[in-house]
Amino acid sequence: MYWTKEQLSKTIKKTIGNRLLIIASNREPYIHIYKEGKVEFMRPVGGAVTALDPIMRVCKGTWVAYGGGSADRDVVNKNNEVMVPPDNPQYTLKRIWLNKDEENGYYYGYSNKAIWPLCHMAYTRPVFDEVEWAYYKIVNQKFADTILDIVGNKKAFVWIQDYHLFLLGKMLKEKNKKLLTAHFMHIPWPNPEAFRICPQKVEILQGLLTNDLLGFHIRYHCSNFMESVKLELEARVDTEKTSVTYGGHETLIRAFPISVDFEEISREADSEDVKKAANKLKEEFSIDQNEFVIVGLDRIDYTKGLIEKIQAIDRFFEKYPEYKGKVLFIQKGGLSRMHIGAYKDLNETLNNLVEEVNWKHSNEKWFPILFLRRHMTRKEILALYRLADACIVSPVHDGMNLVCKEFIAAKNDLNGVLLLSAYTGASRELADTVFVNPYDRENFAIAIKQAIELSKEEKMKRMENLRNVVKENNIYKWAGKFLEELKKV
Ligand code: G6P
Repeated sequence: MYWTKEQLSKTIKKTIGNRLLIIASNREPYIHIYKEGKVEFMRPVGGAVTALDPIMRVCKGTWVAYGGGSADRDVVNKNNEVMVPPDNPQYTLKRIWLNKDEENGYYYGYSNKAIWPLCHMAYTRPVFDEVEWAYYKIVNQKFADTILDIVGNKKAFVWIQDYHLFLLGKMLKEKNKKLLTAHFMHIPWPNPEAFRICPQKVEILQGLLTNDLLGFHIRYHCSNFMESVKLELEARVDTEKTSVTYGGHETLIRAFPISVDFEEISREADSEDVKKAANKLKEEFSIDQNEFVIVGLDRIDYTKGLIEKIQAIDRFFEKYPEYKGKVLFIQKGGLSRMHIGAYKDLNETLNNLVEEVNWKHSNEKWFPILFLRRHMTRKEILALYRLADACIVSPVHDGMNLVCKEFIAAKNDLNGVLLLSAYTGASRELADTVFVNPYDRENFAIAIKQAIELSKEEKMKRMENLRNVVKENNIYKWAGKFLEELKKV
């Protein structure tokens, strides 16, 4: 069956029925900011919101999230709600406010200094701090209180997102046993040896195991989770049924590979606006007609393998100097979590590295890497995909990665090659890519050359296959399959 918005709508009616639908995530789908005294809105980057916004447009529920934009408080009603998307209102966004200490402790602290590195195993050590953990609990409780208030004595399904809200399911069920809750993890679950160092591991597992359904991107993460449970708790782990029973409550554990809105991206990428934006970018970046353009779009995060990518590009030009002047790398890097030392350091290292590599290989007319730091609109991002001959997505570890799926969806003319890290969840589905190991500089450089030199027919054949996979396994299928599984609860 091919999943569409309409199909998802029907599934929602069948599975959720007359329950309220509430999504809870840390990051909000739309941020209001002040720019030159005027209120504007932005869509934040990141997998979770990219995937869930199209679903909420269909479901029409309430999305509860932390309001972090400078103008966020000034556009909500007295219940802290605002209809979004702001230019085409379709569902409710209810904002939660955090003070500085809460933001530091819960977001920068426990979520991103402890859990993020713990789960990604990217050789950045997690830091577990008691005070930050206390704030993590306070903020989870804030989310719980807000949601319980929205629900009142109605029936509801709460769909919890990601690693910021591990305790939310438990806090909700303690007050309202009738709630149906599910939790989806957008990042990897580490192997049990990695997870066991976490001082708060038991509370985290207990928090997750009060949900009725627990989703991960791939089966490997499900089994890592179940192995962690076996090691840490007295629970019944049923590997046949893939469920865990703890304290008399059963949680189903399932894999749902997340995706993008293929049809919409594909349509938008072909629009006149995007074509115009692509021409504008070509002018802005002085791209030569014959230049082979390779793009990358990542948050500046140590899991994204950015240093490894720049080093591989350096090696590529060392090994194959004949490509100097003929290939241009455009890397868009969005600043992220800059109050954390590891991110600040990475940003500086990257700046220096790009500068060195450009200096080493450039000539009067050409330099190899264009590092883009400015904010880009959605149209510009699609335009970047449009003008690219190839895209490199090379995280050292990533739960899924949606940039590669967006790139594929935008390549209507089949003219594009994808180089993809074998350590992304997406690599399990996208067999027709050129695989790279970001840790293996030499072979990474060779893979870049191979990708460039694939014949036109081969490139098109591969892209067609990739498009079929992403089209079939689109975001509506992800949501539909998730909701269908709820029927088994
Ligand atoms: C990942 C996480 C998301 C997060 C995103 C951006 O995709 O799974 O939950 O929103 O990164 O990170 P940020 O900290 O800016 O929300």
